[in-house]
Amino acid sequence: MGLEAKISVLPYYEIKHPEISRIRVFPTPEEAAQAAAEEIIGVVRVNPQAAITYATGDTVIPLYENLARAVKEGRVDFSETSGFHLDEYYPCGPDINEYPHGFVAYLRQRVFTPLGIKNANEMNGLAPEGEAEAKRYDSLLSAQPIEIAILGIGPWSAETQTGCHIAFNESGTPFSEKVHVQTLDPVTLMRDRQERGQDSPERALTQGVANILEARRIFLLAYGEKKGQSLREALFGEIGPQRPASALRLQGQKVTLFIDEAAASQFGKL
Ligand code: F6R
Repeated sequence: MGLEAKISVLPYYEIKHPEISRIRVFPTPEEAAQAAAEEIIGVVRVNPQAAITYATGDTVIPLYENLARAVKEGRVDFSETSGFHLDEYYPCGPDINEYPHGFVAYLRQRVFTPLGIKNANEMNGLAPEGEAEAKRYDSLLSAQPIEIAILGIGPWSAETQTGCHIAFNESGTPFSEKVHVQTLDPVTLMRDRQERGQDSPERALTQGVANILEARRIFLLAYGEKKGQSLREALFGEIGPQRPASALRLQGQKVTLFIDEAAASQFGKL
């Protein structure tokens, strides 16, 4: 069977939005992840040295599985690409036994190793001075244009009217921020500690909104009704730091959302 024959045509429809150029809605998360993977593969084939920023978290796991499979099948080569972090808990180290919630461990295991990325630029969550580490990482990022920033979106709380972070930019963080140390919002802490049972810190190193908006392409993935509520705030609420993901509307021509029908089902209930 030829390579082309293996790629199935994915069913989706698009939602029109005044600022965001493409909102692609798929029946299931698996199909959304597969479509995002195919777009990333297409970009890497054209630019084998692309610099890519990788989100961590549950949402992007099926995306990374698709990418790892494509590499294994020889459909794409990531070895000359550069990999960047979006964020990391602070303090937090790479040892998965000591820091099971750590993003360095996650990215090594799910992205850098399976995709064979040699130039992996890791954030040092154990740096003694967080702000110095943020500066160091910011200059790494500025040294080359980011071809794709892969994002998820954080939870929104109707009660506190906070949430929908991108990276770990929480409500109230100015859009002009570059890499910095961020105190996590109670909504994020509740998700991490109560819902996920993590013993994770209340601060993080994170790319700022300004870094994310500099990427040439921004791909955001979100599935399920809860993520749909976050997206509804980001897409249709007021643009401003209270809703960090709303910043994507300022560079909407670069943005593609890969979402499922459950997420899209929330848009009508603003
Ligand atoms: C993680 C990150 C976060 C997550 C978001 C969604 O690197 O930047 O913004 O994308 O918290 O997390 P999940 O996908 O676990 O629901």
